[in-house]
Amino acid sequence: FKNDIGVIGMAVMGRNLTLNIASHGYTVSIFNRTPQKTEYIIKNFDNKTILPFFSISGFVNSLKKPRCILLMVQSGKATDNIILKLLSYLSSGDIIIDGGNSFYKDTIRRYYNLLKYNVNFIGAGISGGEYGALYGPSIMPGGNKSAYNFIKPILKSIAAKIGNESCISYIGPDGSGHYVKMVHNGIEYADMQLIAESYSMLRHILNLSNQDISDIFSQWNQGELNSYLIKITKNILKKKDSNGNDLIDCILDQADTKGTGEWACKEALELHEPLTLITMSVFSRYISVLKLQRILASNILLGPRNHCIIHNQSEFIEKIRQSLYLGKIISYSQGFSQLSHASQKYHWNLKYSNIAKIFRSGCIIQARFLNKIVEAYKYDNTTMNLLLSPYFQELANKYQNTLRQVVSDSIQYGVAIPVFSSAISYYDSYRTSFSSANLIQAQRDYFGAHTYKRYDQDGVFHTNWSSY
Ligand code: 6PG
Repeated sequence: FKNDIGVIGMAVMGRNLTLNIASHGYTVSIFNRTPQKTEYIIKNFDNKTILPFFSISGFVNSLKKPRCILLMVQSGKATDNIILKLLSYLSSGDIIIDGGNSFYKDTIRRYYNLLKYNVNFIGAGISGGEYGALYGPSIMPGGNKSAYNFIKPILKSIAAKIGNESCISYIGPDGSGHYVKMVHNGIEYADMQLIAESYSMLRHILNLSNQDISDIFSQWNQGELNSYLIKITKNILKKKDSNGNDLIDCILDQADTKGTGEWACKEALELHEPLTLITMSVFSRYISVLKLQRILASNILLGPRNHCIIHNQSEFIEKIRQSLYLGKIISYSQGFSQLSHASQKYHWNLKYSNIAKIFRSGCIIQARFLNKIVEAYKYDNTTMNLLLSPYFQELANKYQNTLRQVVSDSIQYGVAIPVFSSAISYYDSYRTSFSSANLIQAQRDYFGAHTYKRYDQDGVFHTNWSSY
């Protein structure tokens, strides 16, 4: 008797995916570098369809051919090491699925390396955290299409569902699945930062309590902003610690990063994509880490001398809501624009409506408004920028003035809102038909003879600027 699939890496994501697969009637071989984690699962989960192995050869030989092996190990070196170990036991046609947060260029490299051995490699972004892994994540697989089709029934069965649709879709060749996951994570950063800045305005401009703010988020979650991140935020703000204090007030304000957000920004720089909201969200985490400097600076550097008072509280709350929605839309427009740029560069032929579709459940950025992105790209997969598509342009035109007011009020109050202000700056830059880049070109030509083009004449020009 041989098992349907093998999972390597029994940390929480690997364990929960294993339990999820087994609960759908598949037999699963499991392996972990250290035996303790494997033993823990066998002891604690009474599941006859999960079978432990303590050697790679035993693990590989326990699988039906072509073998399907899901890797849930740390991205980077650990992934390369395990692939190398597996390789000597695999046969032509076997399939390795990397479900970790791997860098897409590593995935491309692994894909083509394994092709030499006739081993199929699927780089699958998997989102949804521990809970998603257990009850249904969103899955973004990239690689060889027929290898994907072979493992599709298993992956489809474990993915999150919306009605009878599963949140999984073939993304495209080689590293495209992990690229989409990287951009998903970048968007996750910006969503989180926009929510945090909204909380900051409600807290420091309106002086509301955590309970009040939780109620506001709860209300927002009923409408356009309905999403997983808004839902968890409302729960977080209500949570008490064992002493009855609001837990949120006890949590140190220094945000960690594991790397995928940074990757998205570096890629944006490489592609010359203005991914300003995500990049500013990453920088905001870096500034948060400078706690000691911030404390020092708070005693040295002054804030605004005086500011207007917000008289109509509920009106201001509604303005924050509208701004949060528009900020979110601008961030997704940038993220999807980067996807389309990468798709052209790597010839991935990405289908954005399918990507937005599988983001609708299971993953961290799941949100009701993704239906609008699905529609926009279904109508036209070549849309240059979501802000130009009918629903989003109408919404931007409706909310842009509010975003402006909220940003200027917060600046007047001295409350930091780096991503909201990036949103309005990008919006204004993007809708400016005559920018100030003419001056930049003149400066470049002045000091470096870098040349410039003219509106009124064809060709490339250089001026001797010092002769007046
Ligand atoms: C997901 C998450 C997941 C993880 C991030 C957190 O989609 O399930 O994005 O991948 O929580 O890596 O990233 P940071 O530690 O960088 O915030």
